[in-house]
Amino acid sequence: MAAKKLVLLRLLLVGFIINHVARSAGAGDDDHQFVYSGFAGSSSLLLDGAASVTGSGLLELTNGTLRQKGHAIYPTPLRLRGRSFSSSFVFGILSAYPDVSANGIALFVAPTADFSGAMAAQYLGLLNSSNNGNATNRVFAVELDTMQNNEFRDLSDNHVGIDINSLVSVNSTDAGYYDDDGSGSGEFRNLTLISHEAMQVWVDYEGGTGRINVTLAPLKTRRPARPLLSVVQDLSEVIPDTAYIGFSSSTGLVSSRHYILGWSFAVDGPAPAIDIARLPKLPREFPKPRSKAMEVILPIVTAAVVLLVGTALVLLRRTQLRYSELREEWEVEFGPHRFSYKDLFRATEGFKNKNLLGVGGFGKVYRGVLPASKCEIAVKRVSHSSKQGMKEFVAEIVSIGRMQHPNLVRLLGYCRRQGELLLVYEYMPNGSLDRYLYSQPQEADDKHNGTLNWVQRLGIIKGIASGLIYLHDEWEKVVVHRDIKASNVLLDSGMNGRLGDFGLAMLYDHTADPETSHVVGTIGYLAPEIGRTSKATILTDVFAFGIFVLEVTCGQKPIMQDSKDDQLMLADWVVEHWNRGSLVETVDSKLQGDYDADEACVVLKVGLLCSHPFPEARPTMRQVLQYLNGDMPVPELVPAHLSLQMLAFMQNEGFDSYIMSYPSSVESVNSLTSLVHER
Ligand SMILES: Nc1ncnc2c1ncn2[C@@H]1O[C@H](COP(=O)(O)OP(=O)(O)OP(=O)(O)O)[C@@H](O)[C@H]1O
Ligand SMILES: *[C@@H]1O[C@H](CO)[C@@H](O)[C@H](O)[C@H]1NC(C)=O
Ligand SMILES: *[C@@H]1O[C@H](CO)[C@@H](O)[C@H](O)[C@H]1NC(C)=O
Ligand SMILES: *[C@@H]1O[C@H](CO)[C@@H](O)[C@H](O)[C@H]1NC(C)=O
Ligand SMILES: *[C@@H]1O[C@H](CO)[C@@H](O)[C@H](O)[C@H]1NC(C)=O
Ligand SMILES: *[C@@H]1O[C@H](CO)[C@@H](O)[C@H](O)[C@H]1NC(C)=O
Ligand SMILES: *[C@@H]1O[C@H](CO)[C@@H](O)[C@H](O)[C@H]1NC(C)=O
Repeated sequence: MAAKKLVLLRLLLVGFIINHVARSAGAGDDDHQFVYSGFAGSSSLLLDGAASVTGSGLLELTNGTLRQKGHAIYPTPLRLRGRSFSSSFVFGILSAYPDVSANGIALFVAPTADFSGAMAAQYLGLLNSSNNGNATNRVFAVELDTMQNNEFRDLSDNHVGIDINSLVSVNSTDAGYYDDDGSGSGEFRNLTLISHEAMQVWVDYEGGTGRINVTLAPLKTRRPARPLLSVVQDLSEVIPDTAYIGFSSSTGLVSSRHYILGWSFAVDGPAPAIDIARLPKLPREFPKPRSKAMEVILPIVTAAVVLLVGTALVLLRRTQLRYSELREEWEVEFGPHRFSYKDLFRATEGFKNKNLLGVGGFGKVYRGVLPASKCEIAVKRVSHSSKQGMKEFVAEIVSIGRMQHPNLVRLLGYCRRQGELLLVYEYMPNGSLDRYLYSQPQEADDKHNGTLNWVQRLGIIKGIASGLIYLHDEWEKVVVHRDIKASNVLLDSGMNGRLGDFGLAMLYDHTADPETSHVVGTIGYLAPEIGRTSKATILTDVFAFGIFVLEVTCGQKPIMQDSKDDQLMLADWVVEHWNRGSLVETVDSKLQGDYDADEACVVLKVGLLCSHPFPEARPTMRQVLQYLNGDMPVPELVPAHLSLQMLAFMQNEGFDSYIMSYPSSVESVNSLTSLVHER
């Protein structure tokens, strides 16, 4: 332990002294010596070809490119002739492949620093095919050769050789060392030059005897006493008066990197010790060059990556588009009523068909569950491209959103997208009323339990009446529903009637061109004066409510088929029965007589009164509720005044075509479609 420390200390001391002496001497200096423990900052070396000093201080002679030369030469020529000299260096060879590398490194002494005429590959960047072996070269070299070249009579692809003017070595042997450390057994151990491990070489020349010793050892091993290779050659015959010393390296057909980690030299004395601890580290892995396989795989992988990234971008964009909305500044004030499209998309599972509740005139309605609140909702998608009137409409929606009445379907909010408006309503588990009124017998055993009894029907009629009172009278301003009908009456869990869809008709009114002012509503529920004025009022709502009342009581659609298969207005039909004194016969036969006949007659008369052709004759909704509740008697109206003769009179009075057509024939009703929003 103590001995080891002492050695280390001495090495450090020597290193210290050498480092200060190094590079201080010039050509011909008798005591010339130098040491490089790593090459960081050593700009003095002459580098050519592929040679460079890496950032970490490695002297890289070749960089992996094929058929390459690289030289690193001590800049000043030295007077070596007839003198002893010794040099030591640490090298490392990295190959792209585990068991083959090309071509090797040589420490040389040569008359010139210009190797532009030298060849790469097996010539090691030192000589060429024409001058190899010519005594005029005056080159001495120690080669670390990793290729077996038969033309140079190489003994293996892992040998060390002493070369004089030729790459045919004067003596050579397989790489290795005599391990005489400790035991002194001197056992030979193989070394592999291309093991990617750093190794140290000592080259000693004794001028007097002409003895050249070459010793190799793994980096962390003490210098072996016995040299690997020895030969007697008088170099004074070879080396010129002044000569350059340096390294030459070359690659051939195998991608290899040749590194020098440290180097020392001395004339007339042992080469100074290289500070092993300060040496830069060899790169651990050879940067894999592109193999043939890679040349095929890489483009595929690249294409795949490009495709993947592209797909990802497209998907991202799609997701963005999928959830993209229209949002405008003025909407900020409506904030809480605005839903994100993403939430609605998630709530309805992407507007899946299985969540489709129904298709109405304005669009599809989907059931959904809001992700955050687990609240059940119904989302109506209304296609709407016009921006005109949108602000007013949204304001209206928001104001509607504040409405709370047990007989109105709550509008929870909205969402806007390009060309689309989404309205979010409270979910009504029992669907719309028309399904109960007109359910076919085979549908009767589904969850809707067939038809509704009289009490339920009366409850729904009264409920809708009070909902309308709220809209017409009790809300902060008058709201006209515009589209009262059985399919817009929804049933909540308690089978209470709730009026839905208000506001929507208004959207279409807002956006309608005032010039061509078209009417919103549903045929059969449209008050006659709408044909003339195109204006929805609370009285047109009352008219539609009247038709609705008749519809619920009679279980007949507003435009019905009579026994002769002719189409006929429900109101006319009821009036006819009234005239014949058989009003009760109009009550829905599906009730099977299970109803209060007096109540039913009152309801029918209220229905007729509401659907009076003259707006002035219609009651207000508040009055309607009073009649229905029996708080006030239904004013006796002469049934005759609703007769066809009456209408003939109106026609003579010059009412417009709509009035003239009302309510007689199907043809005239059909002609109305142009006036009415396309459904
Ligand atoms: N809030 C809701 N809860 C449950 N189901 C609903 C709700 N709103 C609508 N629906 C269902 O969706 C269907 C279509 O509704 P929508 O109101 O769009 O059509 P409509 O009333 O037949 O026609 P219009 O568009 O003229 O009002 C309804 O018949 C009803 O079954
Ligand atoms: C290697 O060095 C040569 C110059 O000799 C250069 O052209 C080439 O790009 C280098 N290759 C790498 C991988 O650095
Ligand atoms: C060989 O090297 C010598 C010396 O560098 C040079 O003069 C000569 O042209 C080279 N010959 C070939 C064929 O490259
Ligand atoms: C050696 O080289 C010299 C000059 O470079 C030339 O004149 C001579 O012919 C060469 N000798 C042989 C054997 O090639
Ligand atoms: C060393 O290598 C040579 C040739 O590769 C082989 O014949 C020999 O057995 C090896 N010796 C040892 C000790 O591994
Ligand atoms: C060469 O090695 C031998 C031992 O094998 C030794 O006696 C001799 O001094 C060495 N010569 C030089 C120049 O190192
Ligand atoms: C070559 O070197 C070996 C090992 O040092 C030695 O035994 C042998 O005699 C040498 N051959 C010549 C021709 O000098």
